Amino acid sequence: MIRGCPLIPILCFASETVAPPRAGIPPGPSWLEKAVFYQVYPQSYYDSNGDGIGDLPGITAKLDYISSVGCNAIWINPIFVSPFGDAGYDVADFYKVAPRYGTNEDLKNLCVEAHKRGIHVCLDLVAGHTSIMNEWFQQSALDHANSYSNWYIWTPAVEHLTGSQPFPGEHLRSERYLPNFFPFQPALNYGYAQPDPKEPWQLPTTDPACIAVREELKKIMKFWLDLGADGFRVDLAASLIRNDPDHHVIGALWRYYRAWSDLEYPEAVLISEWSDPAVAIPAGFHIDSLLQFGELYRILLGPESRLDGKAREPHAFFERAGGGDIRAFVDDYLRHYTITKTRGYISIPTGNHDTPRPTWGRNEQDVRAIFAMLLTMPGIPFIYYGDEIGMKFLPEVPNKEGGTLRGTIGEVRRCGSRTPMQWSKEKNAGFSTAPAEKLYLPIDPSESRPDVASEEKDPASFLNFTRALLKLRREQPALANAADFEPLYAEKNGYPLVYLRIAGSERIVISVNPAERPYVVALKDVIKAKPLLVQDAAFLEGRFEMGPVSFGIFKVES
Ligand code: GLC
Ligand code: CA
Repeated sequence: MIRGCPLIPILCFASETVAPPRAGIPPGPSWLEKAVFYQVYPQSYYDSNGDGIGDLPGITAKLDYISSVGCNAIWINPIFVSPFGDAGYDVADFYKVAPRYGTNEDLKNLCVEAHKRGIHVCLDLVAGHTSIMNEWFQQSALDHANSYSNWYIWTPAVEHLTGSQPFPGEHLRSERYLPNFFPFQPALNYGYAQPDPKEPWQLPTTDPACIAVREELKKIMKFWLDLGADGFRVDLAASLIRNDPDHHVIGALWRYYRAWSDLEYPEAVLISEWSDPAVAIPAGFHIDSLLQFGELYRILLGPESRLDGKAREPHAFFERAGGGDIRAFVDDYLRHYTITKTRGYISIPTGNHDTPRPTWGRNEQDVRAIFAMLLTMPGIPFIYYGDEIGMKFLPEVPNKEGGTLRGTIGEVRRCGSRTPMQWSKEKNAGFSTAPAEKLYLPIDPSESRPDVASEEKDPASFLNFTRALLKLRREQPALANAADFEPLYAEKNGYPLVYLRIAGSERIVISVNPAERPYVVALKDVIKAKPLLVQDAAFLEGRFEMGPVSFGIFKVES
């Protein structure tokens, strides 16, 4: 029995029904064993009707391209009806595609066309909150009791107002609601793990309103899975239950959904935005990613202060100055990996709509070293649209739809990673035929901006490099998502990082040196290896000779 069970008998039962792991391969749909995701920011991907905003038919038109990169699954950011105060993460109607993206029928068609090409389609599930424009909230905010009254967390006392704000237009209730992110994103009420008896507004998870919210989320999932979707990336997945310090109750909640989907939709996947795989995967998710708010990601790619528009501090492993503590990364990674490797997958995305692109402050050679590592690690790769052609982070573009965040870490200019995809050298980089001022965000103004059409023609382009890496990953069993991982050389403030990937008797050794200094490292266990893909690296008689900013992927010969 897990703690908290007496409160949530149904959830306890569900937690015991999760399928047991099969010989070394995480449970769940077998397509995950070879999955490589591509994240599509729909408003910026491809505009099919010339209104300046990317849309679903636009994504459908580009499925062959996505497949050509080597990706066989997509995650699309929220596409539902919304006032777009937070670029769609403020959902007003969970059952309807926003008109600017098309119709539910367009999504159905996208799924059909994707499936024809072996591509799975995951949607973004904003589980923790809604828009204040959502009908549920409008009802909840009325001053008379109704079935939605407790769907949100209403706190009567002023001292409980932490972060709570009245929404524009003011609600009729005298209480205040708790927001989940921006003030216009009221938190849905899944209940408190340990409600304070002195605060009766803190409802237990067994309250009928909390159960109704819980079941509504299932209904939303069912609706889109029935239409053709293959799963969900769950926004702020850890945020649903309040006062749950050890995550027992939220874990039970997600295992409840997972047990249901395993039974009813065994091919569907749940991907969490949690950034703590050791917790999220045992909580029922198939995939959790290491993102910018994880210490691990910071050690690898840079501190959060990178996001404030200022220069990066050279504290990450992937810095030419060479300051990062890769030992700390490997130790913590192994902690997550050991707990999760037979239960689910860790993903280290190339970037996303909240982080700067990896190109920021780096040249192409630097980014190749990053990709060489990210696309040879265990788990499921996620490529953020445009990263595969080396699109730039553009912190100077205007703030749009809640892109800029201002907080303790300074200003976070998320729009810099949300500019239109660059398809060609045509008008608006081939993104849209609309007048430039009507585009969702301005196109990278640089003359030398990369684009798909030009890179297609150049065998040495970043796009073709990404393709080569993914081809290697597909073809080499030791690089498969569930193949083993073993670090060989990872020293505090040292370079390079060397690790093995292993499948049966097949072994691949990877060495990455993002620093501007050359390094030589001798390996005990590997004597002979032949190069598969290298950048200024050689392997001779058990020694890696790594040039400045280099990497080597070698097949071990016994
Ligand atoms: C997640 C999303 C982010 C959004 C926030 C609130 O972190 O990735 O874009 O603003 O949740 O929903
Ligand atoms: Ca459009």
